[in-house]
Amino acid sequence: MSLSTRFTELVGIEHPVVQEGLGPYRLVHLAAAVSNAGGLGTVSMPGMTDLDGARVLRGYIEEACTMTDKPFAVNVPVGADSSGKVLPFSAAYVQAVVDARADPEIAKRLKVITTSAGAPSVVRPIIEGSGLVHLHKVGGTRQALRAQSDGVDAIIASGYEAGGHTHSRPVHTIVLGPNVTEAVDIPVVLAGGIRDGRTVAAAFALGADAVAMGTRFVASHDNPDWNEAYAKAVVEAGEGDDVVFKAVYGPSRALRTPGLAELAELEETGAFADVDAVTQWKDQRLISAQRDGDIDGGILPMGQVASGIKDLIHVAEYVPGVMADARRVLAGLQ
Ligand SMILES: Cc1cc2nc3c(=O)[nH]c(=O)nc-3n(C[C@H](O)[C@H](O)[C@H](O)COP(=O)(O)O)c2cc1C
Repeated sequence: MSLSTRFTELVGIEHPVVQEGLGPYRLVHLAAAVSNAGGLGTVSMPGMTDLDGARVLRGYIEEACTMTDKPFAVNVPVGADSSGKVLPFSAAYVQAVVDARADPEIAKRLKVITTSAGAPSVVRPIIEGSGLVHLHKVGGTRQALRAQSDGVDAIIASGYEAGGHTHSRPVHTIVLGPNVTEAVDIPVVLAGGIRDGRTVAAAFALGADAVAMGTRFVASHDNPDWNEAYAKAVVEAGEGDDVVFKAVYGPSRALRTPGLAELAELEETGAFADVDAVTQWKDQRLISAQRDGDIDGGILPMGQVASGIKDLIHVAEYVPGVMADARRVLAGLQ
């Protein structure tokens, strides 16, 4: 039971359901599974301290193409230096995504780039004219309007309760959704706290053209790239088990772990030589959680929605199923 919206038409997918970027460790199988299920899967960018990152990302893109014939996205968090100039690694990653489309087999599948973190204008000149649909993630209406005037094709509006990088000015999904959908003319994908038919129906009631989820998809049987202990930690998390800490691009929401307490202590005692050293430490602890299942020492981004997630999903059933449930919920309200 599909639902055609401005967003599904824009990116050429069956269901208005997006699995968003889940960095920094490799995330290829899950992205392909979501695309195969008729949603939009997103391949994540490798850690930013990986100097060879653009080449590694190209490998992920090629691998995803062996797993799906459907459209998929790549996520690149972007940043600028104090003078507003795009950070070299942001530009390199975005360029790698654009260049990958020179291969016609890749171009058939790699349809979308999702930028996040900084302003899309810093990389817009690289993306414009590439044929990629450009989504940009924001946490406020002002940023949404700016992204629209910068020329992006659709907005991902993510509420403060979302997992991973969240926003310095806290606006939650139920406030953000209608604010952004009223303000912009381009399609809006709503994220933050979505997990089932009821929450998908709520997003559509708030004016969204699609929904995006991160935490819900982490707790799935279809992510062999990550250690299964991570998905188990999502299922076991309860209300109040999350905390917002200072991450690479701003605040980030994660499970409250001893690893985060260790980070706070190291920062307080001035143990890091410079910003690069902190970034590298954080990247390593994210990767040790995702790849090796280090739940205590690691950093585990997850949203508040983890408190309502009690099982692992099979993506092939979940994506069409959640849309069917949402339609039933909406019909039942009438
Ligand atoms: C484990 C994890 C890693 C994430 N990594 C990224 C990332 O690399 N880039 C990004 O833009 N957002 C990242 N996010 C945020 C998600 O893309 C998405 O916006 C968020 O999970 C949506 O809220 P939800 O967790 O309530 O579904 C991450 C989220 C999680 C849970």
